[in-house]
Amino acid sequence: MLKFIVNDKILETNAHPGTILIDYLRDELKLYGTKEGCKEGECGACTVLAGTLDDKGNISYKSVASCILPIGDVNGSHIVSIEGVNQEELNTIQKAIFDYSASQCGFCTPGIVLSLTYFALSSSEFSYKDAEDALDGNLCRCTGYVAIRNAAKALSDLLKTKSRDMNKRIDVLLEAGVLPSYFAQIPQKLKKLNASSASSPSAKARIIAGGTDLFVQIPDQLVESDLKFISERKDLNYIRVDGNCIRIGAATSLEDFRNSCAVNKYFPFMKDDVLLHSSMILRNKATLAGNIVNASPIGDITIMLLALNASIVIDGNGKTREIALDKFYKDYKKFDLSEGEIIKEILVPFMNEGVLYNFEKVSNRKILDIAAVNSSILIETNGMDIAALRISAGGVASIPLMIGGLDNFRGKEISYETVNKLAEYVVSQVAPIDDVRGSANYKKLLIRQLIFAHFNKLFGVKVCAGEGC
Ligand SMILES: Cc1cc2nc3c(=O)[nH]c(=O)nc-3n(C[C@H](O)[C@H](O)[C@H](O)COP(=O)(O)OP(=O)(O)OC[C@H]3O[C@@H](n4cnc5c(N)ncnc54)[C@H](O)[C@@H]3O)c2cc1C
Ligand code: FES
Ligand code: FES
Repeated sequence: MLKFIVNDKILETNAHPGTILIDYLRDELKLYGTKEGCKEGECGACTVLAGTLDDKGNISYKSVASCILPIGDVNGSHIVSIEGVNQEELNTIQKAIFDYSASQCGFCTPGIVLSLTYFALSSSEFSYKDAEDALDGNLCRCTGYVAIRNAAKALSDLLKTKSRDMNKRIDVLLEAGVLPSYFAQIPQKLKKLNASSASSPSAKARIIAGGTDLFVQIPDQLVESDLKFISERKDLNYIRVDGNCIRIGAATSLEDFRNSCAVNKYFPFMKDDVLLHSSMILRNKATLAGNIVNASPIGDITIMLLALNASIVIDGNGKTREIALDKFYKDYKKFDLSEGEIIKEILVPFMNEGVLYNFEKVSNRKILDIAAVNSSILIETNGMDIAALRISAGGVASIPLMIGGLDNFRGKEISYETVNKLAEYVVSQVAPIDDVRGSANYKKLLIRQLIFAHFNKLFGVKVCAGEGC
């Protein structure tokens, strides 16, 4: 039996934990305000909020794509659909959208209102940048984004006049007319909910982390399968500094990772690079471990972690073992993980002083798109010579690829000639295939250019445009 609160109602259901949340909201509860656009996490029309309590009893909300979220994952949570933020009159966010003519057909509007509600609930400074980030997964086909941005800016300006104390956030938003009054009682109600686990005890149960890959690929299969929800493993939701590395628990979402103080201190580039993975409604659920086990040859996080020399701790079948990520992949979607084992945590060693890192990705759209080719580099220099080098490349082999044999470039001066040779060498090591993201030849060209892009960004080495460059 699953238990959760939907808007202001406590609900219990015997529905399968793999039932998709939007189907449950629309088909069972007849809450038709949540719209189904793509049903693949790409458009944001289905955005709702999911609120959970932390150890101290404080509630925090995330915006999520209800079209790829199983109800087992929100067991014990507060789910907010557009009906749950409606008030007698338009609420403050709806009014901003009305005032700035930010809605035409209205299909995207419920999702936009809820993404902005998430912004209001989560942004420490109510900055316009946070409002924009909160909206990065919401597509609108008819209004145009200028009006939506204007409404978001007005909301940000209005909220900046209020207290920014996160401990009083719900009260502030109640007073500002953003949230209806019942929100004040939700933490108490959640505490009393006492939901039991939604996970199957079966050792063969399918592991669901964020579900952002699985529930796009095989939703029909999952609604009939035994499932184990990593989100129930609160003990795996952490980011810890430990000696000379950072440890990331398998239940940590990409958005928590990118906002972590420790990550920002030791890997500051992640704040922007992880934005390229996907939109907020996905980053709020997707995990690093899910990206690794997904084993896509173009997994962005995997490509970043490979160059950073990460390793993974695997738990199960009575033992714990650690393995370097670059030894994990065997062949297309084949890797060193047995039935009964899970990734428990990911270890990323700190970069030594002076070591540089860069990530590049080529995709049709900047956010919300899978890469055609991506690559990361970790480079240590001695003056202008290469002292050590790691390069990973995605979309150019059957696995997320670590380029081997780079020791030959040690001691070489960083110059156009060296980078050109390195780019040629990398191209000789890859074997891309023709697919929807591009032909094999195009991908070879891309990886060559990405090697130059790394050196251009880090050292100003440019691709030679012809004689005399
Ligand atoms: C619209 C959209 C855009 C996307 N864009 C990108 C993109 O640009 N780049 C990119 O890299 N990915 C992208 N993805 C894919 C997906 O979001 C990522 O791969 C994500 O990191 C998967 O994490 P998850 O937690 O949601 O995994 P899940 O879907 O929960 O799981 C993925 C796999 O990992 C297994 N698994 C999860 N956690 C563990 C664990 N701890 N131990 C063992 N097995 C585990 C699951 O059983 C499953 O086989 C996109 C997805 C969507 C829907
Ligand atoms: S329906 Fe498009 S993201 Fe969910
Ligand atoms: S108002 Fe029509 S899709 Fe946004």
